[in-house]
Amino acid sequence: MKIFLDTANLESIKKFNDMGLLDGITTNPSLMSKEKGNPKDAMEEITKIIKGDVSLEVVSTEFSGMIEEGKRLRQYGENVVVKVPMTPDGLKACKSLSSEGIPVNVTLVFSPNQALLAAKSGAKYVSPFIGRLDDIGQDGMNLIQDIKEIFQNYPHLKTEILVASVRHPMHVVEAAKIGADVVTLPPGVLDKMLEHPLTKIGLDNFLKDWEKVKAENPDIKI
Ligand code: G3P
Repeated sequence: MKIFLDTANLESIKKFNDMGLLDGITTNPSLMSKEKGNPKDAMEEITKIIKGDVSLEVVSTEFSGMIEEGKRLRQYGENVVVKVPMTPDGLKACKSLSSEGIPVNVTLVFSPNQALLAAKSGAKYVSPFIGRLDDIGQDGMNLIQDIKEIFQNYPHLKTEILVASVRHPMHVVEAAKIGADVVTLPPGVLDKMLEHPLTKIGLDNFLKDWEKVKAENPDIKI
C-alpha cells in the first residue's frame, strides 16, 4: 500500500521523506490555508522534493476554469495530479484532462456510486473521505470495502483507491487489510504509527544495560 502525506507543510514533508516513507502528497485548499507564505511557492517546492504523485486541487467549480487551473497546476511538475471535486463539471474535467494524459484525483467521494462514476471518467485516483463519514455516524471503512469489491469486479477500471480523511492508525490497518491502493495521512497519524510503548521501554533498557558494560570496559566503542 502506498503512503501519501496529506499536508502542504514542508517541514513534515521533508521529515517523513527523509525516512523514505512517502510515495506521494495530497493537498487541498484547506491544507494550503494552514501554511504561511505563498501557496504557489509551496506547490513548487513540494513537487521538487517528492518524486511520486503530488495532488494539487483546483478551486474553480465550472469545467473551463477547472481545465485552465488544472493545466496551470500541471506546470509545477510532471508528477502533479490534478484534484477535482466529485461534481458533474469535475467529472467532465476529469475525462478531458485524463484524455490529454494529465492524471486526475477525484476528491470528496462519499459513496460507492460516486467512486464508480469517477473511475468511469478516467480518474487515476478516487478519494473516499472515511473520517468525515465516521463523524456523521456512518462506517467510513465500509465505503472502502464496497469500492474495492466493485473495482475488483471490473478489472479494466484502473482507478486506484486513495483512502482520505484518515484520523488514526487503525484506519490505516483496516485500509491495508482491505487492500486499498493508497492511504493519505496527516503527519500526526504517521507519527503515531512510528511509535509503540514497548519499543521505547525496550530501547531504554538496552541503553541502561549497556551502561553496565561501559562501566567495566571504559574504552569500548561499537
Ligand atoms: O485530503 C483531504 C482529506 O484527507 C481531508 O481530511 O480530516 O479534513 O476530513 P479531513
